[in-house]
Amino acid sequence: MLDVGFAKISAPKSGVVVLPLAEGAAFDGAAAALDKVLDGALTRAADAAKFTGKAASSASILAPGGAFKRILLMGLGKEVTDKAVEAAGGALYVALAKDESVIVLADGLTPAQAAHMALGARLRSYRFDKYRTTQKEDDKPKLKSVKFLSSDATEAALAYEPLAAVAAGVELTRNLVTEPANVLYPEEFANRALELKRLGVKVEIFDKKDLEKLGFGSLLCVGWGSARESRMVVMSWLGASGEGKKKPKNPVCFVGKGVCFDTGGISIKPAAGMEDMKWDMAGAGTVTGLMAALAGRKAKVDAVGLIGLVENMPSGTAVRPGDVVTSYSGQTIEVINTDAEGRLVLADVLYYAQQRFAPKYMVNLATLTGAIIVGLGHEYAGMFSNNDELSEKLLAAAKASGEHLWRMPLAPVGESYDKFINSDIADMKNVGNGRAGGSVTAAQFLQRFVKGTPWAHLDIAGMAWTSKDAATVPKGASAFGVRLLDRFVAETFEV
Ligand code: BES
Ligand code: MN
Ligand code: ZN
Repeated sequence: MLDVGFAKISAPKSGVVVLPLAEGAAFDGAAAALDKVLDGALTRAADAAKFTGKAASSASILAPGGAFKRILLMGLGKEVTDKAVEAAGGALYVALAKDESVIVLADGLTPAQAAHMALGARLRSYRFDKYRTTQKEDDKPKLKSVKFLSSDATEAALAYEPLAAVAAGVELTRNLVTEPANVLYPEEFANRALELKRLGVKVEIFDKKDLEKLGFGSLLCVGWGSARESRMVVMSWLGASGEGKKKPKNPVCFVGKGVCFDTGGISIKPAAGMEDMKWDMAGAGTVTGLMAALAGRKAKVDAVGLIGLVENMPSGTAVRPGDVVTSYSGQTIEVINTDAEGRLVLADVLYYAQQRFAPKYMVNLATLTGAIIVGLGHEYAGMFSNNDELSEKLLAAAKASGEHLWRMPLAPVGESYDKFINSDIADMKNVGNGRAGGSVTAAQFLQRFVKGTPWAHLDIAGMAWTSKDAATVPKGASAFGVRLLDRFVAETFEV
């Protein structure tokens, strides 16, 4: 993890220096002083490189004089938003990853902007190297620390504190999602969630016996074929009613699909790309990272994260197409396709969340359908909701966080799309008719386990994993949803 720090502004004397600059802005403050020391070398280099401060542009000046190895001019664009400085922070990391230590002259930025630039650099520096043993030293990044020189370093460091908690949450999610399924199976995932106790989160683990006693027939059938036992984890953070309190009062509940590996079961998936299904627990990974972020920054909210953890495998004990199971809600389900397992897991956990906590809002995240990728690609997650007010709040948080949502249709129970999941022999079946509206029928299925609670389902199948680097998200596990929902909490409960 990249170490970032903040210090009082002073003249840098050596090494690598970064100068963030808004589009069209002239050198000012420490940058102007530096230009003077270097006899105008910065101005000349910026002109020669036609550097104007455009977003995502930079110009590198090698050994410009004095003891400097390198000076990097970093464009922030016309509108210096938090997003823009975060992107510049990410670009800074990429450009200087092979340098050992870097100083940023951030006196032109507000303390909050300096903090967001630091966040961007840290998020972009994420790596998952634990299974690499033969990588050459030269191929590894050298950059361990970035220091931001600010006119108000105390203020910047203060602004960075909550952002660091969010970054830690994002990193936890990325670690969980990237971990292979032979290492991260339900029991091990639950153990990792126990670590949140250190942040003041109450963590309860329900094992297979507990879940049988509760009557989680829907969730449990997904794990029948696996040698690994299923689990549910409940993580409670009482940041509003206080740590002395035992019970959250109408909390916000976040529910995650945690299929540690999805072979499809007896309705087995084709071999090509099946390895991707190690990240079919991204919903649960996101909920866990989000809870770490909220507790880490001591968010003034009562929030409960609930995750259903299973492994979907084919075997002699696996659930068969045509089997009927009884869910925790009492409703029966005909399992037509064992590959539509995520909804079976969520059905029981969603119902449990409402029975026990009477949530004010309930939001679930799931890599639920391939069809949402057909519909929205990798730009937007699909949002399905029974409540306009909650939808508006989530859409606003999506816009602000840059983690985009697109609202999709949802019919009332008994109408249009909902009818597709009626079964001939049980209360419902777990797939619609054919492939038509595959993401919608999946959402309709979930809705049958929602009892009037304002609720939103986020289908993140297209967003949980990325195949190319982005400004603050290196390719791989994106932790999509952590920043979005952290923002949603801040704007809904902490204003
Ligand atoms: N985990 C998959 C959905 C998925 C696919 C996530 C690709 C990420 C990338 C889910 O359990 C699944 O298999 N859904 C089926 C549903 C179908 C059987 C109705 C699908 O999308 O094909
Ligand atoms: Mn599946
Ligand atoms: Zn799945």
